[in-house]
Amino acid sequence: MTKNVGTLIPSALPSIQTRFTCGYHPDTPKNPANNPIPSTQSIIPNYSIPKNILPCKKNYTRLSCVKSVKRILYGLVLFAISIIVLNFGVEAAPPEQVHLATNGIPGEMIVQWGTEEDTSAFCSSENNVQYGIRESDLNQTKSGNSDMYLWTTCTHTVTLTELTLNTTYYYRVGGGDEWSDVFSFNTLSEEPEKITIGAIADHGTSSNAQETTSNMEKEIFDLVIHAGDISYANGAGSGNGIGDQSVWDEYQNQIEGLTSKYPHMYAPGNHEEDSEPYGFDAYESRFYTPGTNAFWYSFEFEFIHFVSISSEHDYEPGSSQYTWLKNDLEDANNNRENVPWVVVFAHRPMYSSNGDGDGHGSEIEFREAMEGLLYEYQVDLAVWGHDHHYERTYPVFEEQVYSNNSGSASEPYYKPGATIHIVAGNAGRSIYDGLEEPKPIWSAYREISYGYTMFEATKTSINYKFIRNSDGSIGDEFWIINTIDTEKPIIIPNENNNSVNKTEDDGIVEQIKELNHMSAPLTILVIATTAIFNLNFRKKTV
Ligand SMILES: [Fe+2]
Repeated sequence: MTKNVGTLIPSALPSIQTRFTCGYHPDTPKNPANNPIPSTQSIIPNYSIPKNILPCKKNYTRLSCVKSVKRILYGLVLFAISIIVLNFGVEAAPPEQVHLATNGIPGEMIVQWGTEEDTSAFCSSENNVQYGIRESDLNQTKSGNSDMYLWTTCTHTVTLTELTLNTTYYYRVGGGDEWSDVFSFNTLSEEPEKITIGAIADHGTSSNAQETTSNMEKEIFDLVIHAGDISYANGAGSGNGIGDQSVWDEYQNQIEGLTSKYPHMYAPGNHEEDSEPYGFDAYESRFYTPGTNAFWYSFEFEFIHFVSISSEHDYEPGSSQYTWLKNDLEDANNNRENVPWVVVFAHRPMYSSNGDGDGHGSEIEFREAMEGLLYEYQVDLAVWGHDHHYERTYPVFEEQVYSNNSGSASEPYYKPGATIHIVAGNAGRSIYDGLEEPKPIWSAYREISYGYTMFEATKTSINYKFIRNSDGSIGDEFWIINTIDTEKPIIIPNENNNSVNKTEDDGIVEQIKELNHMSAPLTILVIATTAIFNLNFRKKTV
């Protein structure tokens, strides 16, 4: 705003001067009865706006002008008084919608919750978290701030810092007479051997969505990422085109058992954008995002550099999002030694064989704009939503498959040279039944059923799974290994795709799986020894 002031004044000044026709120039007589008000042009050559003269409508007398100003002042005073009275009359509301987020710092946790206020103008509830390592003794208190948008839900945010690692913390939120139940979360250990990430999208409040939530509550996560279309408030059918904001409250209460325990990080979907006046306000107000932009941001979570981007905003080369992503991925790729994996998540899929049409399937424009960055900086995984089924691609770039290994434990991907894409839009919103036929060459596995995805990551491996809601069985599973650079990027001819392409290193895979449970230095030592042994063995057998 400040930047625009200088450019606005010159063009705005003439209209301002016209509006000052009934005001007084210091040099004009001050008796309106005897001195009709001259035109602006006649009294104000080179006129500059005097600060003590207020604008009023053209051809007003001085008396009516003064009355008009008085009315405005009275109005302002009454408005201020009514606001103060209202504010004093409003009591704090009970906390609900408790949810956690992360800024990537292991000893910190972002705690957020909502309160249903009487108006959308004021948040009268307090912003405190009481916490401690014993449920019966919440002996520490931290305060934060709150935010509202054009809705009565106030979102409170408190950042807990200097937490002890590998510790269970108990906490409650609120203040005064209004406190939540006591919840708990675990901090990461100092050097965890592995971390577990949940990954979903297109959730909502349906019975299938609730089933996904309750199934996920049985798992143990360190973090959950959500690739957009969160509550479906804007599809709630209020008939007025602006959705139903109360669906956000319903959703966030429904998922509180999960979000109060594990930090959740989101990417914006098309259903996060409501009609005016809301736009993306609910998304921005209700969820913490690190950095200065809620729509594209990154954070490091132990072994993984997570990047959340937006398929709902400008992503073309030259856009701020594109430039930001390029810089962020370049930095992340240069930091692989410390943070070996890079995972991107956003809403619309670059690859999807959903055949439902109407804006679904592969998001070609998005892919053409940004896939090059994923390839250039060797993003390992990309998690999308939008299409309501599960799908996993082979490592792929520009529709060319870079490895057609199965990805199974006996045939994992070894730094395959291109990104593996996941569609995880089957968390609860009505499932799609149309898949493109024949299956595209880049599609490794797809399934039409509800469920959730999750993956375990160590410094040297990622083990990704799709879990079905129906019976808890594993619908799909694959491995990526990054310690042995044996799988050179290759483009497999289309006609050969999906044929058996056995890796030569089956014997090493099982060892790697065992080694993933060992410490990193020991892992490297044993892998190096194994590689030397294999090399010698091959030399002898050739
Ligand atoms: Fe969507």
